[in-house]
Amino acid sequence: MSGDWTGIRACVFDAYGTLFDVHSPAARLRDRLGEKAGALSAVWRTKQLEYTWLRSLMRRHADFWQVTGEALDFALADTGLADRVDRDSLMQQYLTLDAYPDAGPALDRLRAGGLSTAILSNGAPEMLAAAVGSAGLDSRLDAVLSVEDAGIYKPDPATYQIAVDRLSVPAGDICFVSTNAWDAAGAASFGMRVAWLNRFGRTPERLPAGPQSTIDGLDALPPLLGLAG
Ligand code: LAC
Repeated sequence: MSGDWTGIRACVFDAYGTLFDVHSPAARLRDRLGEKAGALSAVWRTKQLEYTWLRSLMRRHADFWQVTGEALDFALADTGLADRVDRDSLMQQYLTLDAYPDAGPALDRLRAGGLSTAILSNGAPEMLAAAVGSAGLDSRLDAVLSVEDAGIYKPDPATYQIAVDRLSVPAGDICFVSTNAWDAAGAASFGMRVAWLNRFGRTPERLPAGPQSTIDGLDALPPLLGLAG
């Protein structure tokens, strides 16, 4: 599936799950967490996202560090692992998440091709700065944008508007890239052109807007946009 990608001026990336592996904290502490490490990580991520949507609907915004901690508290209780690991050790891992190996090279190729690169994430600014710096992506990004400027979470349109305003690029000239299919739908509904990064072979969502293209790795993004591979 491939639509018209001419005229793109900027690539805007989701952070967690797209550039950064949110399952690296539990994987690093697997010795302490045991066989339930994967379950803990899955529940943690699911609850983290659910809490963003629920807080937005309730108009009870709290930043992503707080939401991530509350989701972890739920996941530790739900999996019965609260006595195996202290909460802070897992939370601190979130500041040094592994970047997916295809992230850095793709950003370099996009910038070499004359495109601006940015993150637009639910993450609080301090969380994003830490993860971007730790993964060595800071010099490869023109901007790191947080939904904290809008005080609500994706997929509220106000969050995608931050990228338009801060990059001074119209929505239709932005390629938005997310592994999260609901986020891809949100950006497409807002008016961006979207490449869904389907890293994990997930089923496409049934939502009112969707991606223009689907890729299975970030190495496929520069060629999709007509840049040298
Ligand atoms: C983010 C979440 C959605 O980075 O992964 O915004």
